[in-house]
Amino acid sequence: MLISIVTLLSMLTISVSGVAILLGILLIKAGKREAHKKAMITASVFALLFVLLYVLRNLLQAQGLIPVGKYEGPYRGLFLFILWSHTALAIVNFPLAVITLRYAFKGLFEKHRKIAPLTAFVWVYVAVTGWLIFYFMQFLNR
Ligand code: HEM
Repeated sequence: MLISIVTLLSMLTISVSGVAILLGILLIKAGKREAHKKAMITASVFALLFVLLYVLRNLLQAQGLIPVGKYEGPYRGLFLFILWSHTALAIVNFPLAVITLRYAFKGLFEKHRKIAPLTAFVWVYVAVTGWLIFYFMQFLNR
């Protein structure tokens, strides 16, 4: 089982990002606005780190320096659904995050509050399915 350090760091950053979002939701529900802001900025920084690591991982794979992950186990349909929904929503998450953050920083909290639950949901979905994909490749492969 060969896991590259880049893959491990990717999993770590996506996890921290997802947990920070969940924490940020709990904090705003408790009325802690400043702590909510810090949690969501942390989530955004770690999401950006994840994207950088993703690009790096793909570059290293293209060079043949780390193996390309693939899944050839029995749950192929389920795996493909998770993989495609993860990828599509990861792309959608970027503009959603930018819009949500912009509204917050401009003080447009009415608008922020409308879009933020969707952004948070998509964000956490991407983080959880990221882990599932990893789990499939590492532990459910043939
Ligand atoms: C992309 C990152 C962020 C996400 C996903 C997010 C998510 C959320 C969510 C889910 C809510 C609760 C909405 C509801 O009432 O149902 C909320 C409210 C709020 N957020 Fe964020 N947030 C983010 C970034 C920020 C930032 C950077 C700030 C500060 C500059 C901020 C300030 C606030 C405030 C003040 C509220 C309460 C608004 C109100 O009740 O009028 N958020 N956010």
